Amino acid sequence: MPGAPIKHFLQLADFSRDEIEWVFERTRLIKDRFKRYEFYQPLADRTLAMVFEKASTRTRVSFEAGMYQMGGSVIHLTTGDSQLGRAEPIEDTARVISRMVDLVMIRTYEQAKIETFAAHSRVPVINGLTNEYHPCQILADIYTFIEHRGSIAGRTVAWIGDANNMAYTWLQAARLLGFTLHVSTPPGYPLDARLAPPGPHFRFFADPLDAARGVDLVNTDVWTSMGFEAENEVRRRAFARWQVDATLMRAARPDALFMHCLPAHRGEEVTEDVLEGPQSVVFDEAENRLHAQKALMEYLLLGRNVR
Ligand code: CP
Ligand code: NVA
Repeated sequence: MPGAPIKHFLQLADFSRDEIEWVFERTRLIKDRFKRYEFYQPLADRTLAMVFEKASTRTRVSFEAGMYQMGGSVIHLTTGDSQLGRAEPIEDTARVISRMVDLVMIRTYEQAKIETFAAHSRVPVINGLTNEYHPCQILADIYTFIEHRGSIAGRTVAWIGDANNMAYTWLQAARLLGFTLHVSTPPGYPLDARLAPPGPHFRFFADPLDAARGVDLVNTDVWTSMGFEAENEVRRRAFARWQVDATLMRAARPDALFMHCLPAHRGEEVTEDVLEGPQSVVFDEAENRLHAQKALMEYLLLGRNVR
């Protein structure tokens, strides 16, 4: 394909630390302008296509609202209402869609699918969640940490629960941004070594309380991710001891934050009092999806050529 290589955001590690810090700086500015009702439409005439093969509330609303706020427009596709559901090859779909729009966001199952799409796309592709990664959520989460507590470099973060897309993206973030991730998952649900190569940026703990001891941030997510619903009952039993409750929060630093990408299941992975308690910043995380993804779209389409 002619021209310079296209910058995609298929996983957090597609960006350097410098690029992530740039996106955070732009997030701050774009959020500030938005709060002051300042007109900022650098993406006028640009079109984003969003392809959803799994359900979504936050990702859809934040990308759609964000693109309109920046002056562009959005096309929303699902497997059921497009030819994707009738087995048109991803390669053909990518070649067609990317001739018509400027940017594509995809939420799907295997990471390999968005890799294939990106390899045949003329425009940047954003991962809106795969089985392996959820990089847009991590941008918002780390930006939220910075807003509340300053730089995340040198801090310690606990991941309590499933070895899922969020866990693997936190692992990439720890390596890239210089913090330590404590991970605790139940027996039978280990980290996949291909997605979590060993390194000084993370430590595994058999006991979730040990993982939470002294950390600056406690993180969890649903016990059953989208696509694994058949395992729901088995997982509910296996994960019972990996619930984030007040006892676990007490093991963390007194000023530790609690995060969850949402949607949450109160009484399963997190108790009501923690989710609604003073350490919880879950709704800030959700809001920051909007601001962080506006900065991400701006970077992918305009680079650093912005005001
Ligand atoms: N956290 C998140 O991605 O939420 P949705 O599934 O609602 O998009
Ligand atoms: N791990 C969850 C995140 C949902 C936003 C899932 O993949 O279903």
